[in-house]
Amino acid sequence: MKRTEYCGRVDRRYLGQSVTLMGWVHRRRDHGGVIFIDLRDREGLVQVVCDPDRAETFAVAEKLRNEFCLRVTGKVRPRPEGTVNPGLATGEVEVLAHEVEILNASATPPFQLDDENLSETVRLQNRVLDLRRPAMQENLKLRYRTAMSARRYLDAQGFIDIETPFLYKSTPEGAREFLVPSRVHHGQFYALPQSPQLFKQMLMVAGFDRYYQVVKCFRDEDNRADRQPEFTQIDIETSFLGELEIRELMEGLVRVMFRDAIGVELPPFPVMTYADAMRDYGSDKPDLRVPLRLTELTDLAKTVDFKVFRSAAELPNGRVAALRVPGGGTMTRKEVDDYGPFVAIYGAKGLAWIKVNDVAKPNEEGLQSPIVKFLKPEALREILARTGAQTGDVIFFGADRERVVNDAMGALRAKVGHDRGFAEKGWKPLWVVDFPMFERDDGHDTFGARHHPFTAPKDGHEELFVTDPGSALAKAYDVVLNGWEIGGGSVRIHRAEVQEKVFAALKISPEDQRRKFGFLLDALSYGAPPHGGIAFGLDRIVAMMAGAESIRDVIAFPKTQRQQDLLVDAPTPVTEQQLRDLHIRVRPSDSARVA
Ligand code: AMO
Ligand code: AMP
Repeated sequence: MKRTEYCGRVDRRYLGQSVTLMGWVHRRRDHGGVIFIDLRDREGLVQVVCDPDRAETFAVAEKLRNEFCLRVTGKVRPRPEGTVNPGLATGEVEVLAHEVEILNASATPPFQLDDENLSETVRLQNRVLDLRRPAMQENLKLRYRTAMSARRYLDAQGFIDIETPFLYKSTPEGAREFLVPSRVHHGQFYALPQSPQLFKQMLMVAGFDRYYQVVKCFRDEDNRADRQPEFTQIDIETSFLGELEIRELMEGLVRVMFRDAIGVELPPFPVMTYADAMRDYGSDKPDLRVPLRLTELTDLAKTVDFKVFRSAAELPNGRVAALRVPGGGTMTRKEVDDYGPFVAIYGAKGLAWIKVNDVAKPNEEGLQSPIVKFLKPEALREILARTGAQTGDVIFFGADRERVVNDAMGALRAKVGHDRGFAEKGWKPLWVVDFPMFERDDGHDTFGARHHPFTAPKDGHEELFVTDPGSALAKAYDVVLNGWEIGGGSVRIHRAEVQEKVFAALKISPEDQRRKFGFLLDALSYGAPPHGGIAFGLDRIVAMMAGAESIRDVIAFPKTQRQQDLLVDAPTPVTEQQLRDLHIRVRPSDSARVA
């Protein structure tokens, strides 16, 4: 007999009707005489009642254990008064079983499916059972609804889905690549794509005009809560639109996904320049739920005697910034001190602070602090004025290289904001725009691409490539939501000579340009249209919607922090013959060689 309805959808509409359900035993309760089964499928649970009057059915019910797979036919009836469960879609009804067939028995699961405190290792080792849990079923259904919503929107806008290769070539685009040895070509390798970036650009040159793909991307990076070595992008490219038009179209996409998947109307996205984001929030992905901002003190710090401030301010790339925490004066000394080790994670060497006990007395009387004795009243007055300090506040200070101050004070801003209850509820999306073209490689005089080397400069900024590469801006944009970067893109370079200039600024020699990117330069030379696009991180978007702490919770089969798949047990060694076929010899590991 065929299924007539999902377990989770049997409700009042079915009263008096006979239904056939397929599902798993979530729980079995023997109430001395009557056996209750919570039968579960992907849509939810329903209560099945097995009455001893039906001896055959009852005999089967007595054998049932958790996770047995069943077919149940029975009649839907109201639950008796007092046993209605309003928290459940099926909570007003139950199914009186006429027939119960065991489709398959189950071994005893290694854990209770409704155990909330399972370790992630146990969950990942037993991912099949873990995925049976209602929360995980909801997460993957949410992911599907989100991707479908994106597909519908893009389809309606004339975008077409075109597949691109996974066996690609090694190119310097940013992250470390996964390599795939070629059996046919001795000693040669494919690389798995970090994104379909250049393929989608070449599709624009080929005239497809509007492309999208929901596609796996591969990056051999250290995993974190928001990073996986393979993850999914909603990857998009369009011809003949400028930056503003692309942003408008893509804001529409994000809005539709949130509406369709979780019924949320996102507010309009404010637009913030990269420079403003770094100045006010110390981050290019500010969590705007926290309204606190940094205050710039670098210029002032150059004029003070306090060495910590002054020497940082005098560095060519130094910064001194403050964070005022309204009402922070109620923090205990220990609470204040505990933020020191927190900022140290980001490289900060210390965390100076001032408690404002009386804003009218900018001296050791009104201000409690280990640094007040090093600062003159004029400087203190200026600090209080700039930060807008009030009696009862605490002010934190960061002084170091710009990058350290931004990382440390940016993270502190968000942390203190959440700790002290300043974070607003809800969704705070924004665009971050006008990114720098280039980023100085740490500790070197060379530059790398901030987004990727195919990003177009702002009009007129090409001249800066030679004179002052650090100040050239790009037509690049990110979408940020509640402190997570959920998407990023840019207008692309569509003229070969501009592309060559960018490669030159990145110190890629003309020979290397030909060898690595000859295909792109050639494509650009055949009437490439102006074009641009974006890619959204589907895993991150769905994780945010689901309220999950890690994107692992919205990926069916994720990798651990150590890049392992604990379910199938990967990676594994391979046979000598497999290596031979690929012309590969495995070296002893570095640690073995050192030993
Ligand atoms: P980008 O590198 O910014 O741009 O990636 C786009 C979006 O993908 C998500 N993302 C990740 N999600 C999970 N795990 C990862 N390791 C990971 N890395 C990135 C982020 C990010 O915003 N080709 C360009 C896009 C373009 O220019 O059109 C690109 O890949 O949400
Ligand atoms: P010191 O003179 O090293 O004892 O530092 C005096 C105060 O400044 C202490 O509260 C330190 O935590 C703080 N401090 C030291 N280095 C820095 C720094 N780079 N940024 C911010 N505060 C610092």
